[in-house]
Amino acid sequence: MTVSLKNIDRRTFVKATAATGAGMLVSGSALFANHFQENRKKRYANVGTGSRSRMYQKAVMESYAENSEMVGFCDINIGRLKMVQKAAKGKYGLDVPIYLADDFDKMIIETKPDVVIVTTVDGFHHEYILRAMELGCDVMTEKPMTIDAEKCQSIIDKQIETGRKCTVTFNYRYSPARSKVKELLMKGAIGDILSVDFHWMLNTHHGADYFRRWHSQKKFSGGLMVHKATHHFDLVNWWLSAVPVTVHATGKREFYTPETAKRFGLENYHERCYTCPEKERCGFKLELEKNESLKNLYLDNEQYDGYFRDKCVFRPEIDIEDTMNVLVTYDNNVTMCYSVNAFNSWEGYQIVFNGTQGRLEHSIVEKLYINDGSNKNQGAIKEGGTTIKVFPLRGEPHLEEPHKGGIGGHGGGDGIQPHRAAVELLDDGAQHLVVGDVEAEGVHLQLGERRPGHLAGHHAVRHHLRVVAHPFQ
Ligand SMILES: NC(=O)c1ccc[n+]([C@@H]2O[C@H](COP(=O)([O-])OP(=O)(O)OC[C@H]3O[C@@H](n4cnc5c(N)ncnc54)[C@H](O)[C@@H]3O)[C@@H](O)[C@H]2O)c1
Repeated sequence: MTVSLKNIDRRTFVKATAATGAGMLVSGSALFANHFQENRKKRYANVGTGSRSRMYQKAVMESYAENSEMVGFCDINIGRLKMVQKAAKGKYGLDVPIYLADDFDKMIIETKPDVVIVTTVDGFHHEYILRAMELGCDVMTEKPMTIDAEKCQSIIDKQIETGRKCTVTFNYRYSPARSKVKELLMKGAIGDILSVDFHWMLNTHHGADYFRRWHSQKKFSGGLMVHKATHHFDLVNWWLSAVPVTVHATGKREFYTPETAKRFGLENYHERCYTCPEKERCGFKLELEKNESLKNLYLDNEQYDGYFRDKCVFRPEIDIEDTMNVLVTYDNNVTMCYSVNAFNSWEGYQIVFNGTQGRLEHSIVEKLYINDGSNKNQGAIKEGGTTIKVFPLRGEPHLEEPHKGGIGGHGGGDGIQPHRAAVELLDDGAQHLVVGDVEAEGVHLQLGERRPGHLAGHHAVRHHLRVVAHPFQ
C-alpha cells in the first residue's frame, strides 16, 4: 500500500491549517471575552460516555468545577448514559441530563454548551464535530480527529466557515520525557536532524485489545496506522517542527488470524471470550465478569447495543493490520523509518534522531494494562522505563534526566493534558502547566523564530497555533 496525500495536496492543507490556526486564535479570544464579560462557568456537553470520557468528566465536574460545568451527556447506549448520570449525581450532586445520539441537536439546543467534548468511536467523531460547530459550539475531540483525509478536510472547512474551534487533545505531547526530548532537539544537542528511526511496540495485553472490539475494523478506527500512529506522527511533527511530504507504507495482518489460534493449540477461533468453549486454554482471554470496571461499563450494557468488549482476537472478519512499516520524508528533508508491531513481548517505543553533531536515543517501556474504564494505568511508564541518551559525534555519551511532574497515564501526559485544555479554555495563564512543558514550548517558539532554516521557524509558530489535523489516511 502506498499512501499519498491525494485528497488534500500539502500546500492546500498547510494553507488551510495555518488559516484555521489564526481563525482559532481570533475566535478563542472572542470566546474568552464573552466568558469573562458574562462571568459565568464554561458549559460542556460530552458525547461518547465510554472509558476515555471519564478523564474529561472528572476535569469538568471536579478539578475545574469552579469554572466549568457539565450540562449534558450523549451516547447511543442508554445503559452507559444512566451510569454517568448516576455517577455525576452520586459524586458531585449534579443533575446532568442525558440524550440518546438521535437527540444530539436537541441536547445542544436545550443545554447550550460552549464546548462539546467528543469521546465516541473514532469513525463517528466527524459527525459530532461538524454538527457541534454548525450549531455554534467549539469542540474538544479525542484523537484521531477523524479517520480519513476527506473527513479531515470537511472539519477544516467547517472551522473556517463557522469560525468555531476544534481542538484535538494530543496527550502524548504533555509527557515530561517527551518534552525533554523536544527541548534537547531545539537546543541543538545533536545539531541539525537528518534522519529518524522510530519503532513502536504493542504487546499481547493492551496491543491485543485493539483486535477485540471496534478498533479491529477500519470503518470504525481507520486501523492502527490512524488510531494509534496518529499519536506517534503528531509527536514526530512536533519534535521535528515539520510536516510530511511523502509517505510510503506497507502493512499486513499475520498474527491475529484464525491460523494463529491453531498455532497456539486451540481448535478454532470463537465469537467472544464470555462464551468461549476453549477460554481456559487461551492466553488471550479477557474475563469481563472478573473486572468490576469492565463488567459495569460494557458487559452489563451490551443488552442495549450488542457491543461485545471481548470478541475473539483470532476472528477472520478483523480487517486492520498488526504489522506496519512506513518511510516518510518531511518538508525539512528529514527522513524517517517508522514501524508498529501489535504482538510484541513488551510495550513502548524506541526512537533515534541522527543529527549533524550526534545521535539522540530515547525509549519508554510501559506497564502491562488494558483500558478498563478506570483509567488507572493507561500507558503508564514502568519504574526506570525511560531513557534519554545523547551520543555527541566526538565525546562521551551521557544520559539526560526527563523533566519531573508527569502524572497519570500515557507517559504522564494524561494528568497534564486536561489541565492544558482547561487552561486554554479558562485563559488563566500558565499556572497549571508543568515546567518541562512550558520550557519546551518556549524554546520551541523562541529558537524556531530566531534560527530560521534550522528547525523551520514558521512551523514552530504554526504548532503554537494548534494545527490539529494530520495528513495521514
Ligand atoms: N488519547 C488517548 O490516549 C486515548 C486513549 C483511549 C481512547 N482514546 C480515544 O477516545 C475515544 C473513546 O474511546 P474509548 O476507549 O472510551 O471507547 P469506548 O468503546 O469505551 O467508548 C465509546 C463510547 O462511544 C459510544 N458510541 C459508539 N457509537 C456512537 C455514536 N454513533 N454516537 C454516540 N456515541 C457512540 C459507545 O456507546 C461508548 O459509550 C476514541 O476516539 C479513542 O480513540 C484516546
